[in-house]
Amino acid sequence: MSAFDSSAVLALLGLILVLILKIKVLMAEASKQQSPPGPKPLPVIGNLHILNLKRPYETMLELSKKYGPVYSIQMGPRKVVVLSGYETVKDALINYGNQFGERSRVPIFERLFDGKGIAFAHGETWKTMRRFSLTTLRNLGMGKRIIEDTIIEECQHLIQNFESHKGKPFEIKKVLNASVANVIVSVLLGQRFDYQDPQFLRLLNLIGENVKLIGNPGIVLFNMFPILGFLLRSHKTVLRNRDELFSFIRMTFLEHCYNLDKNDPRSLIDAFLLRQQEENDTSANYFNEENLLALVSNLFAAGTETTASTLRWGIILMMRYPEVQKMVCDEIIKVVGSAQPRIEHRTQMPYTDAVIHEIQRVANILPMGLPHETTTDVLFKNYYIPKGTEVITLLTSVLRDQTQWETPEAFNPTHFLSSEGRFVKKEAFMPFSVGRRMCAGEPLAKMELFLFFTSLMQKFTFQPPPGVSHLDLDLTPDIGFTIQPRPHKICALPRALAL
Ligand code: HEM
Repeated sequence: MSAFDSSAVLALLGLILVLILKIKVLMAEASKQQSPPGPKPLPVIGNLHILNLKRPYETMLELSKKYGPVYSIQMGPRKVVVLSGYETVKDALINYGNQFGERSRVPIFERLFDGKGIAFAHGETWKTMRRFSLTTLRNLGMGKRIIEDTIIEECQHLIQNFESHKGKPFEIKKVLNASVANVIVSVLLGQRFDYQDPQFLRLLNLIGENVKLIGNPGIVLFNMFPILGFLLRSHKTVLRNRDELFSFIRMTFLEHCYNLDKNDPRSLIDAFLLRQQEENDTSANYFNEENLLALVSNLFAAGTETTASTLRWGIILMMRYPEVQKMVCDEIIKVVGSAQPRIEHRTQMPYTDAVIHEIQRVANILPMGLPHETTTDVLFKNYYIPKGTEVITLLTSVLRDQTQWETPEAFNPTHFLSSEGRFVKKEAFMPFSVGRRMCAGEPLAKMELFLFFTSLMQKFTFQPPPGVSHLDLDLTPDIGFTIQPRPHKICALPRALAL
């Protein structure tokens, strides 16, 4: 053997040795990769027996105290990973944004929308619908003066309605829902409805009922065992409501087809119709009827229930904490006087801004966010999570994270104020979630919350009905997919009349 041959053999042996060592290291690492911990599941039902079916987020929060920020829970046959706490949720959604960026295939949402639309869509359909929605919402004025004027017009209608009760107790849910819905409806359909319009009230009813039912134990069970669907009445009602909403959208779409001005699309439906005509010949045509129906109903529901519930929480919290209400009113009077509050006033109103943020933190409208799914196998915080796993980003654990908030369980606007009374942004303020699936309507929602809240606080003092002490107000949330206040009667006293 020549000197050259022997050194080549030695080099080859060295290479093989290095490869063997590398494989050993990888295998050792792989054996260390473990599944997230979690409560022991029972056969068939998994961890169903320990889950609070009415408020599953409460059980999940409790379990995170025992099992840590990454754990798994068995929902019937499905294993779900729960992420909790600011640091972990942010790490997953920002630093592992792609890996955790898919929407999970939850049976009820698959039945309702079949992966179409935006909020419960997947892959390319989601990408195309999200891009289209964000561009169109921006073109139609989201976050700009055009939509500010629409919101202000709606505030005026709402104030008139409140005034008509002349300080007597009334239920605000319906009218507040209608008022907030009109803002998104003006963007989607290019029109507003009267608060008494029976068709409008019917649509709001359908959406409201579905949002409530989807959080009910019957549907939570259906999501674990879809095979039981035929036994569960709530599941049928949800589908029937969807069908009625879809036929309204279908009819509206046809009307828009007849009246479309190609040079002046006035609503999201018009813009969709134009894209449909442009893309008619392309093979991957996402601008089809199924996507239209799912997209419009997603935006309608997402744009109404969340914002309206937050405002209702706002009014109830102001009744519960009259001293905070007074400071908000004083600031509005000082900065705006009797003029119409506008977005430009926000920077001069740090206290009011802090109160609105604190209302959102405490309201905790979507405590579990919307369910995500892994797009690949992921090694996250040393835990192995396989591709296709459902992941709950427990937003309630972020909004109540003890490491981030001075008094996580108490309503305390100073969470958002510096010692000099300036507004302070908080990283753990995540009611809209973060990352690629974050709320598509955040700029609109923030504008609505500020304008509705300040316009109402400028005109009225809110109080519980006579005989009810503000200390007795029930702040326990109702059951539903979003966290809503229970029905409350309120008194809206015109400010001059307030005692
Ligand atoms: C206070 C009001 C609102 C809150 C707290 C809120 C919160 C959220 C949250 C937590 C998500 C889930 C994000 C995730 O999966 O990580 C979401 C998604 C979404 N929101 Fe909102 N939202 C609000 C208002 C609105 C409004 C006004 C619109 C109307 C345009 C809207 C449209 C959407 C849509 C389309 C999605 C699905 C995004 C996607 O899957 O890509 N939301 N929202």
